[in-house]
Amino acid sequence: MIEAVHGEYLIREIGLTAAELAEVAELHHEVLPSRAYATDQKRAGLAEEIRDSLQGRDGLVLAAFTADGRLVAYKLGYRTGNRRESFYSWIGGVHPFHRRKGLYRALTRLQHDWARQQGFKHVETHTWGDNTAMLILNLQEGFVAIGAISAPDRPGTRIILRKVL
Ligand SMILES: CC(C)(COP(=O)(O)OP(=O)(O)OC[C@H]1O[C@@H](n2cnc3c(N)ncnc32)[C@H](O)[C@@H]1OP(=O)(O)O)[C@@H](O)C(=O)NCCC(=O)NCCS
Repeated sequence: MIEAVHGEYLIREIGLTAAELAEVAELHHEVLPSRAYATDQKRAGLAEEIRDSLQGRDGLVLAAFTADGRLVAYKLGYRTGNRRESFYSWIGGVHPFHRRKGLYRALTRLQHDWARQQGFKHVETHTWGDNTAMLILNLQEGFVAIGAISAPDRPGTRIILRKVL
């Protein structure tokens, strides 16, 4: 079980229970401006989508909490790839009040250390080309761009990033 202290925050692995994932889904909607007007149904749907994507696929959900137990950051992913040697880092974010304190870098490093220990060969992630903060952070943490996909449903490009562990 992963557990670490980062400044005033406690970082730990959480499970896939409905209550835990509801909290993560709630924060995801606060973190991403594009999700601000999502309906309750859509919020609940994300929690289920996370559970269905991670269950049985060596998923890992890392979460950071304040001293009084409020969830303020999360990062999650699961095993993927033809040879099942890749960890797909799917979604993550930090509450706007808790940014630029190194929280996401800490979550990223814990995720990669864990993936290395589990025998994964690389980590992959997709980042929108206009997501400056996430692109910079990912490049700093050792990812390289290996491709790009145009989104069918919105303008812009998703950059495919891979880091060899
Ligand atoms: C991207 C994000 C996760 C960064 O979280 P964070 O905890 O603030 O990041 P860190 O403090 O670990 O930053 C590490 C480094 O990344 C870079 N960085 C972070 N935010 C940045 C920004 N807004 N602009 C430029 N560089 C940035 C900096 O180099 C920073 O180091 P520094 O603070 O010493 O300069 C956060 O801004 C966020 O939640 N964004 C919205 C969520 C999102 O886009 N998720 C992706 C889709 S699921």
